[in-house]
Amino acid sequence: MGGTTEEKGSREQLATEYNAMRKSILHTDRRFTVNDKGHLVFDGADLAEIHQTYPTPVYLYSEKEIIRNYEEIRSAFDARHNDTRCFFASKACSVMKILDVIKDTGCSVETNSRYEVRKALEIGFTGDQIVFNGVVKTAEDLEFAIANDLYLINVDSFHELALINKISTRLKKIANVCVRVEPSVPSATHPGLVTAFHAKSGIDLHEAETMVRRIQQLPHVHVRGLHMHVGDQVPESEPFRLATRIVVNESMRLEKRLGIRFELINVGGGIPAPYKYGDGDPLTDNMYPGIGCDDFAEAIVSEVHRWRRDIRICIEPGRKVTASAAVVLTDIACEKTKTNFNENREPEEIVHWKFVDAGYSVFCDQLYWNWYFNFMNATRANQAHDQWIKLAGPLCDGGDYFHQGVDKEFFLIPSNTRIGDTMVFLDAGAYTIESQTVYNNRPRTAVLLVDKKGQISKIRREDTYEDMVGLDIY
Ligand SMILES: Cc1ncc(COP(=O)(O)O)c(C=O)c1O
Repeated sequence: MGGTTEEKGSREQLATEYNAMRKSILHTDRRFTVNDKGHLVFDGADLAEIHQTYPTPVYLYSEKEIIRNYEEIRSAFDARHNDTRCFFASKACSVMKILDVIKDTGCSVETNSRYEVRKALEIGFTGDQIVFNGVVKTAEDLEFAIANDLYLINVDSFHELALINKISTRLKKIANVCVRVEPSVPSATHPGLVTAFHAKSGIDLHEAETMVRRIQQLPHVHVRGLHMHVGDQVPESEPFRLATRIVVNESMRLEKRLGIRFELINVGGGIPAPYKYGDGDPLTDNMYPGIGCDDFAEAIVSEVHRWRRDIRICIEPGRKVTASAAVVLTDIACEKTKTNFNENREPEEIVHWKFVDAGYSVFCDQLYWNWYFNFMNATRANQAHDQWIKLAGPLCDGGDYFHQGVDKEFFLIPSNTRIGDTMVFLDAGAYTIESQTVYNNRPRTAVLLVDKKGQISKIRREDTYEDMVGLDIY
């Protein structure tokens, strides 16, 4: 690569820091070790060896890491407020076996369509363990939810309330609901992930009273409390604290004014997961998590306790439960060196491109949000990652490259990386598989699980050609 002496110096510094961080992952991260072959091992699974059996790209989840993450959330709340119910946001990952692992932890589940509800029921969650969210719930969605006696439907609009009333009356059932409000609290996350400020979700806070009054007149609808969700990958506690204070204040006011007693407050999810490790500023780069489960719990519980202690708190974490629990294994499938020319057609920069077999169609949503994933050579885990490269996927799409690297668009790998080495993206377990596409008619990937005992099994197969053409009518 070209660049001034100063730029080269700062690149060297960055590479030194990056390799120090990488070493600390290998030696101190609870998920990873390096074995005597120099291979990266993920909760007992030798990644390069797995690559011999399973073609890439492929996701690998760790049951142990899901359990550890859930327990972190659980104990943060248990230490402060016993009556907390945790609903895993299944949109983060709804692979059936992963839902099964979640169920075994004792966690309940949050859903966003009747098919997510149906998946949860099929895995064995009872209606009483399911919360249903969403700005658009169709009559069919609501009928399915009400017929299955869900613990909560978070009502997102007056239109939805009217539909719920009609359906629950016809079915002669009681629909248990929360009123989703927008507390109007911004947060320092990606603009597309802010959900409590200028957002499409929920109703205005000042309309909550009208909605609760209306529900009080409906014999087939029962209101349990208010609901909100601040945003996703929120890197500081303050928005959670402020939004909870606002919703608590409104709950208190409504209790007095309407002579009711709420059973719960539902504060949604949003606990951030670490994508970048170290000391960066989470407020300018939310790939650094900024806060953990304790900070989230403290912000919420301290505000709720100003109101009442005999109230249930519901939380809906997704990302924090599964993000760190999966890696993507991928191949260096091709490489080339190209020259970037300036507008006068003078050579400016030599770029070493490496192409992996996992591009936008494999990570989808997350790359759309310009997400950062640590990327390593799992075959040569012990070797210094000292070559700057640009990293691209296989799709016929100019945007199909990894935009956020160690330094701008550049990543580091060992300079002796070979085609066929096992490469790995870390922290890929949330909001990835769910949004995979078959763009360019590349199949959606298989998913593996390393279980508590270290056994590896396939928990989803990749698309076949028949899967991809099977929906077409011709
Ligand atoms: C209503 C609601 N609850 C929970 C979640 C889960 O958020 P996270 O994965 O950040 O914990 C979301 C995510 O968008 C959401 O919209």
